[in-house]
Formats: sequence, structure tokens, C-alpha cells
Amino acid sequence: MSAVPLQTPASGPLDLERVRADFPILSEVQVHGKPLVYLDNAASSQMPRPVIDRLVRYQTREHANIHRGVHYLSAVATDAYEAARGTVRRFLNAREDREIVFTSNVTDAINLVAHGYGRAFLGAGDEIVITHMEHHANIVPWQMLCEEKGAKLRVAPIDDAGEVVMEEYEKLFNPRTKLVSVTHVSNALGTVNPVKEMIAIARHHGVPIMIDGAQAVQHMPVDVQALDCDFYAFTGHKLFGPTGVGVLYGKAALLEKMRPFRGGGDMILSVTFEKTTYNTIPFKFEAGTPPIAQAIALAAAIDYVKEIGLDRIAAHERELLRYATESLQAIPGVRIIGTAREKASVLSFYVGDVHPHDVGTLLNDDGIAVRTGHHCAQPVMQRYGIPATARASFAFYNTLAEVDKLAASVRWVQKLFG
Ligand SMILES: Cc1ncc(COP(=O)(O)O)c(C=O)c1O
Repeated sequence: MSAVPLQTPASGPLDLERVRADFPILSEVQVHGKPLVYLDNAASSQMPRPVIDRLVRYQTREHANIHRGVHYLSAVATDAYEAARGTVRRFLNAREDREIVFTSNVTDAINLVAHGYGRAFLGAGDEIVITHMEHHANIVPWQMLCEEKGAKLRVAPIDDAGEVVMEEYEKLFNPRTKLVSVTHVSNALGTVNPVKEMIAIARHHGVPIMIDGAQAVQHMPVDVQALDCDFYAFTGHKLFGPTGVGVLYGKAALLEKMRPFRGGGDMILSVTFEKTTYNTIPFKFEAGTPPIAQAIALAAAIDYVKEIGLDRIAAHERELLRYATESLQAIPGVRIIGTAREKASVLSFYVGDVHPHDVGTLLNDDGIAVRTGHHCAQPVMQRYGIPATARASFAFYNTLAEVDKLAASVRWVQKLFG
């Protein structure tokens, strides 16, 4: 049984009315007097009532600092925080709780690996492989590492559809390749990468591989043992949880040999002015007071998603994506950026010569929230020779009627600009 009571039934087709009732913001917010149509889920998704309630329960009945207290509340908070770690472990099917590190977001998790692994084990002339479709969070930390170490960033190209050119990816491997980090799903294009194959290639060459799962875990089941990746990271606020919490999964053997990222309280066993002995994993990487409330609420979000069922979520989102793609493609002048065979429910588009910011502003007049800009993936924009896109990204609580509203609004924009 779930720790959180759900208003939505646990089996059968998704009852959208009941699902939507779980998300107060969807009915409570009006934009310019119109109902909110929230299509910016790839940036941050909304929180259902059980997650909000869990946060409130923590803040009103359980709040204390963890690990170091002997008093009642500290024990309660510690138990809830460590139980959250267990929930994340089961969600990713990691082997052990100690392979789960709480971070502040996925960016922090990638930086942790860049510092903890990269700084310890990479040197001059070594190479790191990424792809052309990475979020800046999976580019900049590696660039900073390369700068420091005299290492080199190698980038696997993508084709016009927005798929990694796998032969080129494989060709990048050589004896100097020391680390690979690729996104599971592109936030700008929606492409679902063949990560199993990419991991197998890295494994074949004996190179550790990290997967940025920020856009994946909310759409599909992820099993880190089946994938056999070395690191996997995601972020809470895109998985119907709060901001301020992320997760790094790492194989225990790797985490053990990594350097801590930050120094401070809780990550030590003993400290003298001469020497510090570090704590065991995962605590070695959780210096200072961690995001206790956020991790506990993230676990509630995971319980919620599991009860709804990632298979049901994926089926509904497939339908939303298919319908939205067809609806927008039918509008003269609309160009869809990212047409990979495997896509998550992310739809980047361009309307004639209209700047995406104007598109977004006009859609907002209709109460429709889409993201416009480079989506922190400027190299993707450079690849397509455009400055930005408008991006509609769907969650399981979105409806086909909302897609109709999007299409009608885009049609209006297109007419307005001739
Ligand atoms: C693929 C991908 N990676 C990393 C991030 C960074 O997420 P956060 O800001 O939560 O660290 C995002 C956010 O949009 C993303 O889509």
C-alpha cells in the first residue's frame, strides 16, 4: 500500500478528471481570466495533493535536523529521510540504499561526478564523450573539468531528426576516453536516446558512463541494474516533487573510490586539525544539512507516480504527443524541431518567422504556458540554425482538449503575423 492516499484509482485507463483533481494548481489558477493550460512540464511539473500534504505534514509535525540528534523529532525526520532514500532506490532498482545520494538538483549531481570522479581520475589528454543534444548542465561541468585537467570534450553528432548518429558515437571511443555522459531524453527535442546501446558501447570500451535522466524518469520506468550504467541522475521538480532536491545514483564501488564534492558536517567520521576521515557512502557526498523536507516529499511523488503507473502515464503521453504533433503540423508555416523515432512528450516548434518569445507571449494571453528560448541547450539551437524554439511539454494530467487549445492559439498567432 502506498504511504499517500490517492484520489485517483490505481488501475484501468487514466481517469483524467480525477487525476487533475489531485493537482490543485490546475483548477485554482486562471491566467488573464482563462483556465491555466500548463504545458511547461519539462521545465517543472506540478505537485499533486499527496506531495503537498506530505510537505505540510513534515513541516508541521516532523521538522528537525537529521542524523545527529537523539531526541524524538530528529529520529522521526531521520527515519523519514532515510526511508525516502529507500523509495528512490526501489524506483531506480538500485542494489543498495547507499548507492543513492541526495543532491540539490540534477545539475548538482553532474557536478558531483565531475568533481568526485573527474578530478580524481582524469588527466591531461583524456577525453570525455557527450552528445550534441545535452542540456548545459551536462556540458559546462565537463568543460570546466577539461579546462582544469587539460582534457578534451568529444561530442557525438545528431542528425536532422535529432537522433544521435550512433556510428559516430562509437567512433569517438579510443584509449584516451575516460568518461561518457549522455542524456536519456533531450529536453529541447524530446528524443529518447538508445541509452542501453550507448551504455553497452561504453562498457565494451571499459569506460564509465553517466546518464542524465532529468527528462526520463517522469515518462518511463528506469532500471539502473538492467541498464548497467555507472551513474544516473534526476531532479525532483520535474517528477511532480518539490524544487531543491535531486538524486545521484552511482555504483557503490565507484562512489567508494570517489572524492567528496563538498566538505563540512555529516560527511565526516572524525575531524582533527591534522586530518579528516570521511564518512561512508552516501553520506560522504551529503555535506551539511541536506534537503530533508524535499527528499521526503520526493518520495511521496514517487509513490504517487508508481500508483498511477508509468505504463499508463507513457500510454497517455504517447497519445498527447501524437495528437499535438499532428495538430501543429497541420498549421501552415509550423515547423517541428525534433522528429526522432522515439520521443517523450516534448514538442519544440517554430511558427513561420515569428520569434518564439512572441509565440510564447501570445499563447500566455490564452492562458497557455509553454517555454520559449534555447532551453539551456544552445548547441541544439546552433545545430538547427535557430535562436530558440517554443516548446510544449506534456504531463499525464494534460488533455487532448488542451492540445486543441494550443493548436487554436498557434493558428491565431500564425494568422496575426500573416
Ligand atoms: C536534460 C536536462 N538535464 C539537466 C537539467 C537541469 O535540471 P536542474 O535545473 O533541476 O538541475 C534539465 C532541466 O531542464 C534537463 O532538462
